[in-house]
Amino acid sequence: MNNRTLDGDIQIPRRHVVLFCDDAFGKDSPRWLELIPEGQHRILPVFDSGFDNAHPSCRSRFEAFLDAHSDRFNRAPSLLVPGGEAAKNDPHVVESVMASIHSGNICRQSFVAIFGGGAVLDAVGFAASIAHRGVKVLRFPTTTLAQDDAGIGVKNGVNHHNEKNWRGVFSVPFAVVNDFSLLSTLSDRDWRCGFSEAVKVALLKDAVEFDRLERDASAIARRVNEPSHRAIMRSAELHWQHILEGGDPFEDQIARPLDYGHWSAHRLERLTRGDLKHGEAVAIGLGIDVALAVEFGEAAPDFQRRVLNVLLQLGFDLDHPQLDAPEDIFVGIEQFREHLGGALTLTLVRDPGVPFDIHEICFGQISKAIERHRFMLRTLTV
Ligand SMILES: NC(=O)c1ccc[n+]([C@@H]2O[C@H](COP(=O)([O-])OP(=O)(O)OC[C@H]3O[C@@H](n4cnc5c(N)ncnc54)[C@H](O)[C@@H]3O)[C@@H](O)[C@H]2O)c1
Ligand SMILES: [Zn+2]
Repeated sequence: MNNRTLDGDIQIPRRHVVLFCDDAFGKDSPRWLELIPEGQHRILPVFDSGFDNAHPSCRSRFEAFLDAHSDRFNRAPSLLVPGGEAAKNDPHVVESVMASIHSGNICRQSFVAIFGGGAVLDAVGFAASIAHRGVKVLRFPTTTLAQDDAGIGVKNGVNHHNEKNWRGVFSVPFAVVNDFSLLSTLSDRDWRCGFSEAVKVALLKDAVEFDRLERDASAIARRVNEPSHRAIMRSAELHWQHILEGGDPFEDQIARPLDYGHWSAHRLERLTRGDLKHGEAVAIGLGIDVALAVEFGEAAPDFQRRVLNVLLQLGFDLDHPQLDAPEDIFVGIEQFREHLGGALTLTLVRDPGVPFDIHEICFGQISKAIERHRFMLRTLTV
């Protein structure tokens, strides 16, 4: 009688709500407030200090908003954390958030409201996901990349062992509020960064969107609101759809299509010690992966030209001295495989909206692809 097996499925329903608005603490506030369960909730506001310096009115406005809604919220003192990749490199950031969760009496029915770029969302979200085995997170993304990609993702994590996102968990935020007004203070460089992810997801999933990005790239680079906000919303929607409908929200399978262009991007970010930001490294990574597809005989040089053109028009620099050492970049392939586990699976694209997977690649192919990428770049002028 000792040979019993208990075997059943665990269903864990999760709602993934993403709102777009222009004024989250004014006219648009009822839209996210109505999601908050009845009663009063403890809430810990956490701010990306880079955002807070550039946009100081947001913190005081949010605090005043919470105080004005004291029937719904009881706020803990706001916490400031370093912005940018420092948030994911410095283990003290996670510790400081957990200390504030503890001292602020944040429980599993409370909220941590995070204002910041993708790096702060990742690091603070990680701390919130492991405290009490997970407290509720309200994300208020403040960069284009956080609004159109990172803030939509169900991944949290920090860098460790000199690798990106080595330490982390999957967890779904309570809600994501994408307020476009929070983007106004971004530098042009950080503004641009979100749109390489928009190009990435359009190439993977939506040929019509890729055409639109080609048409709108220079207006987006000039920060014209209408095409920029439209592109952010579509990219966010495509990422969101992939999580909801792709059949693998917690990435149990070995393919990770949304990481198109990322095996080299993550490596370039580490090798250049932050000289390349994530969105910039992704732009170069897309250039390398599209050259790889040509190298494999799957994509045409004209497609490669189109992809490089749209990225150049968005203002990305697609070359970097680090490309002189392809052997260092190649290490990223093995790190990528290990991070996913199992056999290597790289998703490439042969035409807009037409992805395919490869499972084997050698150093010679990478090296040739990088050469091909640089050669094509030299032939292009914007
Ligand atoms: N979890 C995911 O699914 C996911 C997806 C994509 C990217 N990411 C991660 O996101 C990170 C990149 O995020 P990012 O591009 O948002 O950059 P970032 O978070 O590094 O922020 C860039 C800079 O902008 C500052 N900043 C933020 N908002 C501002 C504002 N409104 N005005 C002025 N300055 C502001 C920050 O302080 C920082 O210095 C990477 O670590 C990447 O790995 C995560
Ligand atoms: Zn990315």
